[in-house]
Amino acid sequence: MTAIGTAAGQPSTAKHVTVPPFAVISGAQVQHVLQGREKEIVTLVESTYRLHGAGDSVNPPSYFLRFPDRPSARIIALPASIGGQVQVDGLKWISSFPQNVAAGVPRASAVLILNDHETGYPFACLESSVISATRTAASATLAAEWLSRDRRRPRSVGFFGVGLIARYIHTFLARTGWSFDEIGVHDLSADNASGFRGYLERSDVAGRITVYDRPEQLIRSSDMVVFATVAGEPHVTDVSWFAHNPLVLHVSLRDLAPEVVLASTNILDDVEHCMKANTSPHLAEQLAGNRDFLNGTLDDVMAGRVSVPADRPVVFSPFGLGVLDLAVGKYVYDQVARAGELRVVDDFFHELHRYG
Ligand SMILES: NC(=O)c1ccc[n+]([C@@H]2O[C@H](COP(=O)([O-])OP(=O)(O)OC[C@H]3O[C@@H](n4cnc5c(N)ncnc54)[C@H](O)[C@@H]3O)[C@@H](O)[C@H]2O)c1
Repeated sequence: MTAIGTAAGQPSTAKHVTVPPFAVISGAQVQHVLQGREKEIVTLVESTYRLHGAGDSVNPPSYFLRFPDRPSARIIALPASIGGQVQVDGLKWISSFPQNVAAGVPRASAVLILNDHETGYPFACLESSVISATRTAASATLAAEWLSRDRRRPRSVGFFGVGLIARYIHTFLARTGWSFDEIGVHDLSADNASGFRGYLERSDVAGRITVYDRPEQLIRSSDMVVFATVAGEPHVTDVSWFAHNPLVLHVSLRDLAPEVVLASTNILDDVEHCMKANTSPHLAEQLAGNRDFLNGTLDDVMAGRVSVPADRPVVFSPFGLGVLDLAVGKYVYDQVARAGELRVVDDFFHELHRYG
C-alpha cells in the first residue's frame, strides 16, 4: 500500500509514503469472491481467532448507537486492528432495523472501511452485510467442528429463528462437509419457517426436514441447535429441554435464560465482549455473581487449553468480533485487486499538499 522513496522537497532520509487510492467494492463483487470459498473462509476465521487469542489484534468494545424514537433499531460501530500477515485497521458500521423485514427489506445493512496500516488512510469501502453474514457463519461452522470433536458428531440440527444468518450458517455447514439425518426448523413467523424450508428443499439437502410449531420439540429433537432470532430477552427458560446435552450455537446471544447458561459448558469468542449488552452470559454473570460458569474461548479449545465434556449441554456464544470482518474484508479486497477489478474513486483524497 505504501512506497518507499524520496519525495520532492523532503529530506532524503524521509520515507516517501504514498496516499493509497480509494476503492468501493459492491455487494455483488463481495459475493462473487466469497461464494464457493467456504472452507477457505473457515480457515481464515480460525487463524484470525488464533491471532486475536495471541494478542496480535486490537478489538475495543463495540459502540451501540440507539434511538429514543426507534427503540428496536440500532447501528453498531466495530473498530478493530489486526496484525499477523493481514496488517490492516478498520471499522465495520452495521445497522439493524428489524422492522425492515415486514417491508421486504433485509434487517441488517453494513459497510466496512479498511484503513492502511502505514498511513491510516482509508483505502476501501466494502458492502459488508455479506461479509458480516459470512464471517458469522464461518465462526459458527468452526465452533461446530471444534466443539463436537470430543462428543458424538451431531446427526440432527435445529434452526431456531430462520432469517439470513440461519441460511448462511446452513450453507456454510453444508459446503464444509456437514450432513444431517434430520433438519428441524422453528420460527415465530410461519411464513419465514416455510421460506427457509423452501431454501433447504432447493439446496437439495439429504435428510428429513421438519417444521416445529413448538420450540421445545425443536430443541429436544436436535443434537445441535442454532439460535439466530432477533429476541432481545431470554425466551427459552426450561433447562430440562437440554437434557440430551446438545451443542448450542447461540449466535443471537439473548435467547437463553441465565439458568440454561449456568447448567451448560460455556465457550465464548471473547470474554470481555460477551459479558456486556445483556447477552445471556452477561445475565448469567449477574445472577451467579461470578464468572465461574465460563469455560473459555474457542481459541482456548483450539489450543487444547480447555476441553469440552460430553455430559452437559455446550453453548457457544460469539459476540462477533470486528477483527473477523477485517480479515474477511481484506481477503475480498486482495482478491478483487488481484483480478484487476477494483473500482477506484479518482481524486477521492484531494487536499494533499500542506500549503496548497
Ligand atoms: N453473534 C454474531 O456475530 C452475529 C452476527 C450477525 C448476526 N447476529 C444475530 O443473528 C440474528 C439473526 O440475524 P438475521 O439477519 O438472520 O435476522 P432476520 O431478521 O433475518 O431473521 C430473524 C428470524 O428470527 C425470527 N424470530 C425472532 N424472534 C424469534 C423467537 N423468539 N423465536 C423464534 N423465531 C424468532 C424472526 O421471525 C426471523 O425469521 C440477529 O439477532 C443478529 O443480531 C449475530
